Amino acid sequence: MYKIVFMRHGESTWNLENRFTGWTDVDLTEKGVKEAKAAGEVLKNEGYTFDLCYTSVLKRAIRTLWLTLDEMDLMYLPVKNDWRLNERHYGALQGLDKGETAAKFGDKQVLVWRRSYDIPPPALEEGDDRASFNDPRYAGLAKEQIPLTECLKDTVARVLPAWNEEIAPAIKAGRKILISAHGNSLRALIKMLDNISDEEIVGLNIPNGQPLVYELDADLKPIRHYYLGDPAAIAAAQAAVANQGKAK
Ligand code: 3PG
Repeated sequence: MYKIVFMRHGESTWNLENRFTGWTDVDLTEKGVKEAKAAGEVLKNEGYTFDLCYTSVLKRAIRTLWLTLDEMDLMYLPVKNDWRLNERHYGALQGLDKGETAAKFGDKQVLVWRRSYDIPPPALEEGDDRASFNDPRYAGLAKEQIPLTECLKDTVARVLPAWNEEIAPAIKAGRKILISAHGNSLRALIKMLDNISDEEIVGLNIPNGQPLVYELDADLKPIRHYYLGDPAAIAAAQAAVANQGKAK
């Protein structure tokens, strides 16, 4: 049996401001820093250790990983930064307030943009300042690989090769892996691992900064999964994420 631990980054400045973030590179809030350290403490107390880490190229996930590893005295571990673990691109919604957007377009439409499997939010224009074409961290990518918006299906299509080519072989080679990523890149991974239907995935919300353990069989099929930490606090954090897209 194998184990892998997934973690969404701690609270970011735009989580606090309730803005659609996507590929915008915002940092953690003080609360986010605390959540990342607390995750490290829980992992350490529960006897977890790792020998390889993956994260995105966005600083909220990277810093969460650093703080967690620092807390575990594991800062020497190799870390692979992979753009394919980035948050789902939020298109022209990036920067907008989620509650205000719901007040303008309706809760139902915002739920479609946030959670539907195959309907993407409106795309950015190519010339929009928010587009990532000139960002040096994506310099190695072909232009078609850099999104102007994404639905979860698009995110699955980029996360899956990272899993199949990189992460799955490393698990099978016996590496103990921690992945620090994002709400929707983790939803993409979990959809694939647990074979969740396009309808059911709408109801899955990932809380910030809570280690999520997956136990996998020899073929990397999930046996069971569980969050470490207080179940009531985790349920409340998941409900809070679900409610972010509602008009006040
Ligand atoms: C974002 O990109 O805005 C969040 O990190 C994830 O947002 P969501 O829960 O609204 O999809």
